[in-house]
Amino acid sequence: SDMMAVEIAGIKMKTPVMTASGTFGFGLEYEEFVDINQIGAIVVKGTTLLPRSGNAGVRIAETPAGMLNSIGLENPGVEAFLAAALPKLAQYDVPVIVNIAGNTVQEYGELAKRLETSGVAAVELNISCPNVKQGGIAFGTDCDSAAAVVSTVKASTSLPVIVKLSPNVTDIAAMAQTVEAAGADAISLINTLLGMAINIHTRAPVLGNVVGGLSGPAVKPVAVRMVWQAANAVKIPVIGMGGIMTAEDAVEFMLAGASAVAVGTANFVNPCAIVEITAGIKAYLVAKGLANVGQLVGGVNLNG
Ligand code: DOR
Repeated sequence: SDMMAVEIAGIKMKTPVMTASGTFGFGLEYEEFVDINQIGAIVVKGTTLLPRSGNAGVRIAETPAGMLNSIGLENPGVEAFLAAALPKLAQYDVPVIVNIAGNTVQEYGELAKRLETSGVAAVELNISCPNVKQGGIAFGTDCDSAAAVVSTVKASTSLPVIVKLSPNVTDIAAMAQTVEAAGADAISLINTLLGMAINIHTRAPVLGNVVGGLSGPAVKPVAVRMVWQAANAVKIPVIGMGGIMTAEDAVEFMLAGASAVAVGTANFVNPCAIVEITAGIKAYLVAKGLANVGQLVGGVNLNG
């Protein structure tokens, strides 16, 4: 309905609830569970120029409060995405946002150029993957490197550019301002928080890659805090994520300053999470007498 519609960086969305990259594949596994047309936008798995097989060994560990992953950006590569997944996704009336990752600044530019005329709605620059040796988090934890990626991509495409930020920094406001100054049209945060788990019986790390990215309810307060700090530091829209399991969680992110939200780990627990969260936000608006979802954005009452 109209009260749920939002526009982020020129991308028109029916609702502010989108998928978090890497937690929805290319959307197609979810077709049997949910009406894909009810999703605000589909952000696909991190995509690289060449296919990647990802990290060796155990890649997922569940913890009582969330999930650790060390996938290592396994994906079929941009050409396979364009040939196989995108034509299927294009059947839906939902914007497709491609999360892209590179080993070098130039690779991000090449990927953005390759996607320019494909019909996708935007690119999301993954400068925050904690699980790859080259690129990944190195770009998202250093302001100069982040600026170089963003300005190179902006020079390579006219698509809207969303920049996905890392929680593994001490000054998220400075990083948000840096990517805004470099031309970002929106920012999304948080990617996963570096973590580790050890099997006390074998004494071996649980993950094959030793360390991984933590997601789910464990990171939610960190994410809300970072969304609030980032939203107060920039004028571009902020897409908030990190442990959103319920509509109440989503509302909290919007009050902190998120113009849209993304659902990640919850998709694994409940494939209908996104549509249920969307319905819950609408019910909250109705209950509070609000005319549209935009009225929530940044509405935290610091004197309350
Ligand atoms: O937690 C994450 N895992 N974040 C990313 O950006 C990439 C992903 C992976 O493939 O390891």
